[in-house]
Amino acid sequence: MKEKINVFDYSELITKALRPGILLNSNGEKFNAMVIGWGHLGVIWGLDTFTVYVRQSRYTKAQLDKAGEFTLSIPLDGVDKEINRVCGTLSGRDINKADYVTLVEPETNNTPGIKEYPLTIECKIIYKQDQDLEKIPDNVIDRYYGKGSDVGDFHTAYIGQIVDAYIIKD
Ligand SMILES: Cc1cc2nc3c(=O)[nH]c(=O)nc-3n(C[C@H](O)[C@H](O)[C@H](O)COP(=O)(O)O)c2cc1C
Repeated sequence: MKEKINVFDYSELITKALRPGILLNSNGEKFNAMVIGWGHLGVIWGLDTFTVYVRQSRYTKAQLDKAGEFTLSIPLDGVDKEINRVCGTLSGRDINKADYVTLVEPETNNTPGIKEYPLTIECKIIYKQDQDLEKIPDNVIDRYYGKGSDVGDFHTAYIGQIVDAYIIKD
């Protein structure tokens, strides 16, 4: 069973959950979920939206570009350490993350939610933009983009129009 919600009634819970991490689910070639810590719930062009930031190197990037949509799964009782370890450190290129979570059929898009993380937001991608590294402050470049193996591994911002939001119940 799913209880429909007004997502803005949960904005404090959702934005606080970003620090330990929420899940960005995609369904391009197959189901995949990755932990994200950066994102915005808000409004643009008169639409309720959630914006996510995905590095070029993530398996999730190709999935989003193929599917044009995503689903967010947010815990209500804190993170499950094993789910966050798998989805936050391993790649869907190497493993099947659907083996580590309980998938729940979506309502409006084609990307499942996750029973263990019941607050669910379904989004259609309406805009995407690669970061322009020349416009990012030097201290941020040094910290996130400038050195070692991450050089060039910038983020793409994806704005998702919220098309459904609910809490998965037993
Ligand atoms: C707390 C936390 C927050 C993260 N936030 C992001 C994020 O906002 N964007 C991003 O591209 N990667 C982020 N990551 C890294 C991805 O979750 C990680 O690289 C993941 O294994 C990618 O999976 P994939 O290759 O299956 O897409 C975060 C990881 C953790 C642990």
